[in-house]
Amino acid sequence: MNHITVLKEEAIQSLAIKEKGIYVDGTLGGGGHSKRIAESLKDGHLFVFDQDEFAINFAKDVLKDFSNITYIHSNFKNMKKELNERDIHGVDGILLDLGLSSFQIDDPERGFTYLKETALDMRMDQRQSLTAETILNTYTLDELAKIFYVYGEEKNSFKIARRILEKRPLKTTMDLVKICDQVNYNEKGHSAKRVFQALRIAVNDELHVLEDVLRDAVSLLNPDGRLVVITFHSLEDRIVKHFFKDESSEDPILKKLPIPQSKETPFEVLTRKPIYPKEEEMMINPRSKSAKLRALRRR
Ligand SMILES: C[S@@+](CC[C@H](N)C(=O)[O-])C[C@H]1O[C@@H](n2cnc3c(N)ncnc32)[C@H](O)[C@@H]1O
Repeated sequence: MNHITVLKEEAIQSLAIKEKGIYVDGTLGGGGHSKRIAESLKDGHLFVFDQDEFAINFAKDVLKDFSNITYIHSNFKNMKKELNERDIHGVDGILLDLGLSSFQIDDPERGFTYLKETALDMRMDQRQSLTAETILNTYTLDELAKIFYVYGEEKNSFKIARRILEKRPLKTTMDLVKICDQVNYNEKGHSAKRVFQALRIAVNDELHVLEDVLRDAVSLLNPDGRLVVITFHSLEDRIVKHFFKDESSEDPILKKLPIPQSKETPFEVLTRKPIYPKEEEMMINPRSKSAKLRALRRR
């Protein structure tokens, strides 16, 4: 198993690392980005988060030569609280490389893949009790259809949800794949791709924790601090794009007041257009094809 770090150099450049700075990698994974950050620091420090214990243990080994790293086994939605508890109230850069690592996707035991028969799990954090199996076997028709439609943009969301209710209890990934195959029989790509994405987002509450961490992240940034986010699907990217736009725009209420306002907002978007992987990267690592990087700077 191997995880190839996506947009590695682009992320490091966007962070514009200061040797003595304090940095946060909110999504440690295989430690690829963290290694480059740690290498760029002299007297600085790196705090790394991952909610997956396997990732923390794996990356500790990859990064064993660095003494300037603190490992935090937690959801990045707790970033501010965890850092404040360690007496850190301002940081110079935060990186979020969202979604799953190849370790998680490729390990059939984790239940993320629609290519192998396995338990319906999909938890990034194994301490959590909610699994894909619980959602599929206990949620109502409307709740399931909404998850598939909103998080997967699945047009047959109701048909699939209805079949699931008829076939309960579902036990393995293949029970779900069979249903998707029957409903999406005309599909060019894999019939279950969107449903699996939707379930994964629901199990890990991915879009809400992203909104939470973005708010925390900007409140932690020091002057000239950067927030760099790599997304892998349009739902995530939309949240980041709009958040960055709002943070860097003049306050619409203040703008209307007949008093002079500073035109300078506290944040500037460094990427008017997102940064995409280069052709060579996409050839070597097809999983990078959907990646987009956006960066924000506190003035
Ligand atoms: C795409 S991988 C990161 C890969 C890493 N940048 C590298 O170079 O190896 C995403 C990682 O973030 C973790 N992750 C995703 N969402 C998280 C969250 N809300 N809180 C903490 N970790 C999260 C996943 O468990 C996974 O290990």
